[in-house]
Amino acid sequence: MDWRISECCIIYHISRIVCLSKVPLYNLLWLLCIPMSTFENNVLPQMEKYLPDYEIYHNLSRIQAHLEDIVSRNPNYFRIDWSYTSRQSQPQLVLRMTNFTDGRSIRVTSETVPNPKLKILLSFGEHAREFLPVESMFYLLQNITSGLSLPEEWPGFKYSRSILSKIDLFVVAMMNPDGRRYVENTGNYCWRGTSTGVDINRNFDWNYGAKGSSSDVNDEEYRGREVFSEPECLVLIDLTTRYKFDAFVSFHSGIRQIYVPFADTYSKKIQRKPENIVKMLELAETVAAASVKKFSYGLAYQLNDYTADGTVFDYMAGKRKIPFSFAIELWGEGDTSKSKCFDLFNPQSYRLQEALQEIHPLYVTLFDYLIHWQEKQIETLSDPSKEAPSLTFGLLLLIAVIICFGFVAVHNRLPTCMRLYPRRRIVSLRSLSSTFSVLRPYKM
Ligand SMILES: *[C@@H]1O[C@H](CO)[C@@H](O)[C@H](O)[C@H]1NC(C)=O
Ligand SMILES: *[C@@H]1O[C@H](CO)[C@@H](O)[C@H](O)[C@H]1NC(C)=O
Ligand SMILES: *[C@@H]1O[C@H](CO)[C@@H](O)[C@H](O)[C@H]1NC(C)=O
Ligand SMILES: [Zn+2]
Repeated sequence: MDWRISECCIIYHISRIVCLSKVPLYNLLWLLCIPMSTFENNVLPQMEKYLPDYEIYHNLSRIQAHLEDIVSRNPNYFRIDWSYTSRQSQPQLVLRMTNFTDGRSIRVTSETVPNPKLKILLSFGEHAREFLPVESMFYLLQNITSGLSLPEEWPGFKYSRSILSKIDLFVVAMMNPDGRRYVENTGNYCWRGTSTGVDINRNFDWNYGAKGSSSDVNDEEYRGREVFSEPECLVLIDLTTRYKFDAFVSFHSGIRQIYVPFADTYSKKIQRKPENIVKMLELAETVAAASVKKFSYGLAYQLNDYTADGTVFDYMAGKRKIPFSFAIELWGEGDTSKSKCFDLFNPQSYRLQEALQEIHPLYVTLFDYLIHWQEKQIETLSDPSKEAPSLTFGLLLLIAVIICFGFVAVHNRLPTCMRLYPRRRIVSLRSLSSTFSVLRPYKM
């Protein structure tokens, strides 16, 4: 029973219908909606502390235009795929960034062959009201593209060249364009879901439907009618079917935390850990340490007192077996009693640039760690002795055995008085085998 939609509150029902419909009249009904928004966990609008300045924050149409501009200026390094769309047919803007002209961004189909270039998949904009992660993506792209226009000997150019030659980066720039459009059109900065109110990050096929999600369409953690009910999920399913990714990150905001899988209720119960847990924690620790602001990190079900079922990053680790899978919340102080919606997830416009500068080292460190990991993978495959010290050990053992044999051979030729031990009677193999035949257990 959900007390939030109990029959007693007729005004709540009315305001809900009005708030959630897209009629322009909506704006006049602010006052009606505000008292209702004290209901916990809903996605009704609130009287915000501050709102985004769209001269600074990108709105949806500027997100698209900016990406198109980057691609058209740098055709050798950026491509955009328009084929993935939302329920309302808006593009999800899949950007791919690498040096396409060096011929190394090929597709690897074998499980055992490493990608010649590190393949990373980043997902932005799952939650409509979290504007900040998309802004940090633009900051990253700006860093790479502006490096390209510098003289070749400058560190900025060298950095961009190195990233483009070592990484094949896939970016889903806007997972949930319908939700984002809804936020912009209605001014409801509490909206998190898709056009049907589904939380994409509870709609994936990993412990789907359990209690770390909601069946209530008004709840911010509404999981949808069935697993993968949202067409927006398809882009991530499809990309991870077509390519073998080394790493996946789903970006969010609201607090500063790096989550390692798993987050789901069942994993918490059985204390399940992903295969690559040691490396994942090491990466999380490294990335957290690179930040100016304090980040916490760890297994999601240990870090949080709540569990989350059907999340994207659990699915990528558990079902897709991507060796590195994270959810990273880039900004915020967590949900305090004083926070409304926009301010809970996004800095004030005039402080955006400063926040993005602080966040940038996280990407740099993430890439850096993964590049080294990848180089080691390739190294150990071309020179297996590095990975397997047991081989070196085996060689030493062989030498020791040869020396022993030599010693015994020489020793047996010495006169008896000079030997370390007298010659013993040698048990013949035949007598041994007859001993064993007696002991051999009876089998029918
Ligand atoms: C997006 O913002 C720009 C200005 O930054 C504005 O010109 C444009 O009309 C906005 N688009 C929408 C759909 O609101
Ligand atoms: C991309 O690769 C091509 C071919 O190897 C090379 O000539 C070019 O300098 C590379 N671009 C950058 C920015 O490194
Ligand atoms: C991009 O970021 C890297 C890493 O922080 C830095 O070394 C490089 O100079 C930056 N490039 C530009 C053009 O600012
Ligand atoms: Zn989120």
